[in-house]
Amino acid sequence: MQGLFITLEGVDGAGKSSHLDWLADWFRSRGRVVRQTREPGGTPLGEHLREIVLHQAMHPETEALVMFAARREHIEQIIRPALAAGEVLISDRFTDASFAYQCGGRGLPEARLEALEQWVHGDLQPDLTLLFDVPTEIAAARLANAREPDRFEREQGEFHARVRAAYLRRAASHPLRIQVIDGSRTLDEVRAQLAIILGAFA
Ligand code: TYD
Repeated sequence: MQGLFITLEGVDGAGKSSHLDWLADWFRSRGRVVRQTREPGGTPLGEHLREIVLHQAMHPETEALVMFAARREHIEQIIRPALAAGEVLISDRFTDASFAYQCGGRGLPEARLEALEQWVHGDLQPDLTLLFDVPTEIAAARLANAREPDRFEREQGEFHARVRAAYLRRAASHPLRIQVIDGSRTLDEVRAQLAIILGAFA
């Protein structure tokens, strides 16, 4: 069985987490071994780095480097072994998030991140990326009910609008890999759309 690398993306509050378990069950019910993971994080060191980057103020370039440092470890310890074993690896966020948040949100030049991407995983890209897209006001309203917000969730509306725009630009430039899901629709409607997309990977 060929390994399958799937990533979930979207602005904070876009609803991707609500669909993670459903996606995993969809593959399990078709006989696949599924591993769920997340970024930043996914390894013991990555989870330490996550705590720091979500709560400690730092320069935007430091932020990007920490994301890629955690990613380097994640790829080595979790992603490559799972794919080599033929598993379905579902990651809650990956490198598209760095382009959206650190370039779109914080304003770093894309060329910087392209160099890091090439260094850290030039030969490895997701087979499928599901981008959950919602208008920023809907995402903000959902986040208003959330527990203690982190550094990214505390950012202003314009930050999240820039993140969203950067995600959509990325989807436009990677139309085969990145599928945009309208996250403002009902859970059932979103799942129906996901089932159609996943059909190609069953
Ligand atoms: P998120 O995945 O939304 O987790 P939760 O649902 O628990 O809040 O939180 C991760 C945050 O990290 C999110 O705000 C986006 C940010 N992030 C980046 O800025 N760059 C990255 O490369 C990654 C992977 C995440």
